[in-house]
Amino acid sequence: MGPKAKPRAKARRNGECVAIARKAVVLLGPPGAGKGTQAKIVEEKLGLPKISTGDILRDAVRCGTPLGLAAKRHMDEGRLVPDEVMIGIIRERTSRADCSPGFILDGFPRTIPQAESLDGILTEEGIDLYAIVIKIGDETAGRRLAGRRSCPNCGRIYNIHLSPSARGEFCEVCGAQLEQRSDDSEQVVAGRLAVYHAQTEPLVSYYRERGRLYEVDGERPVEDISRDILNMLGRKM
Ligand code: AP5
Repeated sequence: MGPKAKPRAKARRNGECVAIARKAVVLLGPPGAGKGTQAKIVEEKLGLPKISTGDILRDAVRCGTPLGLAAKRHMDEGRLVPDEVMIGIIRERTSRADCSPGFILDGFPRTIPQAESLDGILTEEGIDLYAIVIKIGDETAGRRLAGRRSCPNCGRIYNIHLSPSARGEFCEVCGAQLEQRSDDSEQVVAGRLAVYHAQTEPLVSYYRERGRLYEVDGERPVEDISRDILNMLGRKM
């Protein structure tokens, strides 16, 4: 991505050593757009690790770590966790070995300073960025979040109205009891949507101006959206 970019990773294809483009896929969109749902599908199809900042923070809250204790009050009120905390998390996580072919970011960046820091990390590492915004209206977001249930064990996401688990309140993949997120109450969702429009939506223009944005209509079946995303990434790989 810039003059200081590191050389590209190497892979063997048909017995030959070739340079492969490392890529960071950024999933943008309001709460309930389906970022987590699509990130899991892209992770499974492309074999790139999914990094969900929301999941990292919720794990920290569950474990009662200093990060979790600091993040909890922001999350419970639907506010963003401070940029410097989030940038530190991403810098550390993306430096691990499993990220060497690239990674999928679900929930990061969420502010212009986060996006600028990410640009810096990717330039240092020689990684290409593809930003995908999944577009839905606020009414759809509210309806989806009211019915969301997630598996705390394997991370699968369900919806009691739209895509329920075949095993009711238990995950159909691993059998764990499904959970409702504490920030999915009507009042907190209204705050999260306001924060999205004020602080995160400007990233759509940020990436569009840099020629890095791909837009998908999120008000369609999950499979149609993932097909579009995978087609776009396939063309760029
Ligand atoms: P985070 O966990 O990232 O929440 P979010 O961005 O608000 O997004 P959601 O997880 O609510 O929605 P989603 O788009 O992933 O939708 P999903 O696939 O689940 O962040 C939580 C909090 O952490 C933030 O508020 C903040 O405090 C903090 N935080 C995190 N990252 C941060 C950062 N970088 N900086 C600062 N603070 C940060 O789908 C939703 C529902 O819809 C599900 O039930 C699903 O089954 C259903 N669904 C999905 N797609 C479809 C479809 N196409 N049709 C029908 N139903 C669908």
